Amino acid sequence: MVYEAASRWRAVDEYFVDTLVEEDAALRASRLGSHEAGLPPHEVAPNQGALLSLLARMIGAARVLEIGTLAGYSTIWLARAVGPSGKVVTLELNASYADVAQRNLEKAGVAERVEVMVGPAVDALARLVEQGEEPFDVVFIDADKPNNPAYLQASLALTRRGSIIVADNVVRDGAVINADSADDRVQGVRRFLQMLSDEPRLEATAIQTVGSKGWDGFALAIVR
Ligand code: DHB
Ligand code: MG
Repeated sequence: MVYEAASRWRAVDEYFVDTLVEEDAALRASRLGSHEAGLPPHEVAPNQGALLSLLARMIGAARVLEIGTLAGYSTIWLARAVGPSGKVVTLELNASYADVAQRNLEKAGVAERVEVMVGPAVDALARLVEQGEEPFDVVFIDADKPNNPAYLQASLALTRRGSIIVADNVVRDGAVINADSADDRVQGVRRFLQMLSDEPRLEATAIQTVGSKGWDGFALAIVR
């Protein structure tokens, strides 16, 4: 990678965020506090959080399912997008990350509209399907990548016509094009993208992004 370009991507992200994105104290504290607490710096960038919020509000979303909570940074963006009468269900494997997230959600004033489910997301998803959970308007998939195919399968059972599904990290410095990759994260993303293509109930695309999070991308799909 050309490092000069990477530092420009970062500078442009800073400019966009300074100019366009309102990251309030609670969001900022959750992002920086998460890094200080030693959690992996894998949360979405501020302008990506704003994108998730805009997508949710563009379709008038009231119910959001997030797979992969980490410290709750994107969760706060999505919880604010659905408003006080909306609901976000967010799934986190790691109990200590979930604790950090819960505190961040409380500080951001959105804890009552968010349910953090702790444990393997595949199990939580199976429970949600079993209990006949109402369909979600938005699903954001941003957890362990090898399970992306399972997450997409469950998402289909938990959405309705017009729901949108967004997945983070579908590019990873271009690693996604390596069909022979020994990395099970790459294979998980590739199988996920193939499912998006094969599934007649979904219409999808993917876009590459550069910025403070390096070179990566989102897949986006609508349920039809
Ligand atoms: C990783 C996961 C993410 O969701 C992300 O945005 C960046 C990195 C990871 O597991 O390495
Ligand atoms: Mg991610």
